[in-house]
Amino acid sequence: MKNLTIILSLALSLFVGSTFAADQLLDQTHMAKGLKCTSCHQGETREAVPMLKCVQCHNTAKLAVKTENFKPTNPHNNRHFSTETDCAKCHHVHQKSENYCQGCHLKFDFVTP
Ligand code: HEC
Ligand code: HEC
Ligand code: HEC
Ligand code: HEC
Repeated sequence: MKNLTIILSLALSLFVGSTFAADQLLDQTHMAKGLKCTSCHQGETREAVPMLKCVQCHNTAKLAVKTENFKPTNPHNNRHFSTETDCAKCHHVHQKSENYCQGCHLKFDFVTP
């Protein structure tokens, strides 16, 4: 049932995504690049994915350089966790991402893809 919900929401975001690309969820972004469910999920388990998985494809040091000039602050290199902030604090894959910093710092008002 849960899988069905995901598939339905994938289909829906595919439809919506064609009109509002900015609202595209990360599952769609990744599937469009040819990734499979198993690129992130181990075997048949469909549970939260550890950051270790994300960094097999995304190098944190390179990421930090890429968003060096992002305003109001570099989300990938910060005072508290340097380049190793848990991706899941901001990025969600099947639901809307969030801004972890703003909970404590109102001035960091960025939108997370
Ligand atoms: C880019 C990595 C990635 C891909 C590709 C991916 N998932 Fe996920 N999945 C996650 C993460 C991370 C979570 C934890 C919740 C979140 O961030 O949305 C998750 C959670 C889930 C859950 C648990 C329910 C929930 O939303 O928390 C299910 C079920 C699931 N994924 C199914 C799928 C299926 C089916 C596919 C293929 C169509 C898929 N996932 C592809 C990363 C991925
Ligand atoms: C199997 C390789 C792979 C894994 C695992 C993976 N990604 Fe990706 N990711 C990609 C590719 C390929 C792209 C598209 C090219 C790019 O932007 O780097 C991408 C793009 C992204 C983007 C940019 C989306 C945009 O709108 O431009 C984000 C954010 C992202 N991934 C986060 C994550 C997170 C968080 C995880 C762990 C839950 C994860 N990725 C796991 C391969 C992967
Ligand atoms: C504090 C929130 C936050 C955390 C934690 C975070 N990100 Fe991001 N991420 C963002 C924001 C905001 C952007 C948009 C930057 C931009 O538009 O240039 C982004 C963009 C990205 C992109 C696209 C970069 C590009 O310009 O092509 C990737 C890939 C990505 N994040 C992966 C990750 C991974 C992997 C992790 C964990 C190692 C992570 N992020 C942790 C907020 C975060
Ligand atoms: C749970 C609350 C909390 C979260 C979430 C949080 N911070 Fe902070 N941050 C603080 C506190 C408290 C201080 C002051 C103590 C210190 O300087 O370490 C601080 C100080 C800072 C400072 C130095 C002072 C300033 O305001 O310029 C920076 C920069 C900063 N945080 C960036 C970030 C970024 C970027 C994020 C998101 C990745 C983040 N913080 C998430 C609580 C938080």
